[in-house]
Amino acid sequence: MTRTQISSRLFESTRLGALRLPNRLVMAPMSRNRADDDGVPSPIMATYYAQRASAGLIVAEAATPNAVGQTYPNIPAIYNQAHVAGWRQVTDAVRAAGGRMFLQLEHGGRIGHPDTSGLMPIAPSPVPLPDTIFTPNGHLASVVPREMTLDEIGSTVADFASAARNAIEAGFAGVEVHAANGYLIQQFLAQGTNHRTDEYGGSVAGRIRFALEVVQAVGDAIGPERVGLRIAPGVTVNGIREGDTGSIYPALLGALADKGLAYLHVVFADPDQPLFHDIRRIWPGTLIANPVLPWPGPLPADGGRHEGERLLAAGADLVALGRAFLANPDLVERLRAGAPLNPVRDRGLMYMGGETGYTDYPVLAGGCDRALEPAAS
Ligand SMILES: Cc1cc2nc3c(=O)[nH]c(=O)nc-3n(C[C@H](O)[C@H](O)[C@H](O)COP(=O)(O)O)c2cc1C
Repeated sequence: MTRTQISSRLFESTRLGALRLPNRLVMAPMSRNRADDDGVPSPIMATYYAQRASAGLIVAEAATPNAVGQTYPNIPAIYNQAHVAGWRQVTDAVRAAGGRMFLQLEHGGRIGHPDTSGLMPIAPSPVPLPDTIFTPNGHLASVVPREMTLDEIGSTVADFASAARNAIEAGFAGVEVHAANGYLIQQFLAQGTNHRTDEYGGSVAGRIRFALEVVQAVGDAIGPERVGLRIAPGVTVNGIREGDTGSIYPALLGALADKGLAYLHVVFADPDQPLFHDIRRIWPGTLIANPVLPWPGPLPADGGRHEGERLLAAGADLVALGRAFLANPDLVERLRAGAPLNPVRDRGLMYMGGETGYTDYPVLAGGCDRALEPAAS
């Protein structure tokens, strides 16, 4: 049978530093809460990621660089040898399936709870999340985080660096520093969550200092060419209020532009907004753009392909998709064939559960003849 093959720059191979990517599609990091209670990745995580190895690049879900940075129950971690061994099984499986993988490093800051981590969350300033938070005991009122001391800022930077070394030991090609979506690093960037009067607060130069120190330390630990940075300029997720988005990001990216990082990854990138073009002008290296798609859904029938192509035309180098990869292990093949996509089945299964809603999304039988069969492990 002759298959229709859609022609698109999304399916062109390209390079990311030393990596050859078979296409420009990136699986966006997505927390799926399938690690064990100690943050050790579970065997089904190896199956899940290996099923999606045809992505140009996988950015594995947020992993916490230390105990107090844990956001939610069953989030994976990367600060001890058990975590390294668990992740090693994941990267081995992905490599065996032909894939390439970075690991996202995320410290939750105020997004955490003593019922989850056993520790009081810490943050730039004692400003609580204006919402409830999911814990092992259900949704609970968030707690007021403790303001980080200068020593804690220093040790947190060191923990990011150590986590990055662990990630390389675990077989990842690099790490992505999570400075988006209202977690610790963005809490430092934003006026609403950073009321500090020392060198880590106040002016833009003060508020970007922590982000710069984390990126520098992680780059020193594993080489800047193995470090990506994820940002979400102007996004209000998790109650974040930046105040001066238009000043923060030119300063942050200007300071990082010549550091030789692997990539910059922009969440909710909109080619119709001047900010996207400003970022493209400032950032000389690889730019990954995650388009704006309906949230919470449903996704467009093409999973975001058209929006991704608009971003490539506007200067992005790679396009990250989240939910479309979650529900379609063979997303690249389906998009190339113009085949229908599986919808996300049950939002509740995104963040908990075992194999159901995780490793049991079907692939197209025979490649693209539109019949469905279970995903291979
Ligand atoms: C289940 C789920 C978990 C997510 N977890 C993370 C995460 O760990 N780190 C992160 O930066 N973004 C996370 N996100 C956001 C995605 O990376 C992505 O930005 C978002 O889903 C929008 O892309 P989409 O419209 O293609 O799904 C998550 C999204 C979903 C649906």
